[in-house]
Amino acid sequence: MNIQRLINMKGKEKIVMVTAYDTPSAKIAEKAGVDIILVGDSLGNNVLGYNSTIPVTMDEIIIHLKAVKRGAPNSFIVADMPFLSYGCSLEESIKNAGLLIKNGANAVKIEGGKIHCNLIRKCINIGIPVMGHLGFTPQSLNIFGGYKVQGKEQSSKEIILENAVQLEKCGVFSIVLEMLTEDVSKQITEKLSIPTIGIGAGRFCDGQVLVFHDIVGLNPEFKPKFSKQYANTFTIMLDALNAYKEDVKTNKFPEEKHIFKGGK
Ligand code: KIV
Ligand code: NA
Repeated sequence: MNIQRLINMKGKEKIVMVTAYDTPSAKIAEKAGVDIILVGDSLGNNVLGYNSTIPVTMDEIIIHLKAVKRGAPNSFIVADMPFLSYGCSLEESIKNAGLLIKNGANAVKIEGGKIHCNLIRKCINIGIPVMGHLGFTPQSLNIFGGYKVQGKEQSSKEIILENAVQLEKCGVFSIVLEMLTEDVSKQITEKLSIPTIGIGAGRFCDGQVLVFHDIVGLNPEFKPKFSKQYANTFTIMLDALNAYKEDVKTNKFPEEKHIFKGGK
């Protein structure tokens, strides 16, 4: 997979993206043959126990990116630039983007609109492909004042559409659209010649992305309307641990087949 193939998939074949944060989940994603693995900063919510993506650091993303790369050495990997790793100084931002590539990412993802065009152009010029991210952008949670669907008012529709057009102009190879009304994401998808990848953005995007833990049901308290849970691994794992506990307490484990015998 590469950015040109992804762009060529638009209008022909839906793009499948899934997050992964560690070696086992990356192995599963690669085995399933997804088109893109995202080392998302949702790492914070899904693995590190934070209640938003905001605390996630470059060091944390890099540790998990390297683990994902080891599990999925042949997959196309996008890594999120965490909050505050970009947007302050241009030099710092480019260096941080480059560090993600050095550590195994094939591209980086940046939240926000045309304000980042200068940074995006610089990244592309030195060999760093960039994916955009519009609609509800979780790093700006404190500006939005909550997890709110975007694109409901005419004025915000126009702003999001304009930002999508500008992001394409400055060279992003794809844009994630998150929690965006379906009419707006459809309009953006039709207007752009690069693929849109939706999460909570309706049926008309060029691809979809979901969080690994949501797909497999590892986080039973979190069931957003836009997500789909395909398995209940939390319960499967809980049952396994309960069975193990019961076996130890009742002397059913270990059995003779589990023991090592010494010589005479
Ligand atoms: O971090 C993440 O999981 C994401 C997806 C929601 C696109 O950015
Ligand atoms: Na993210």
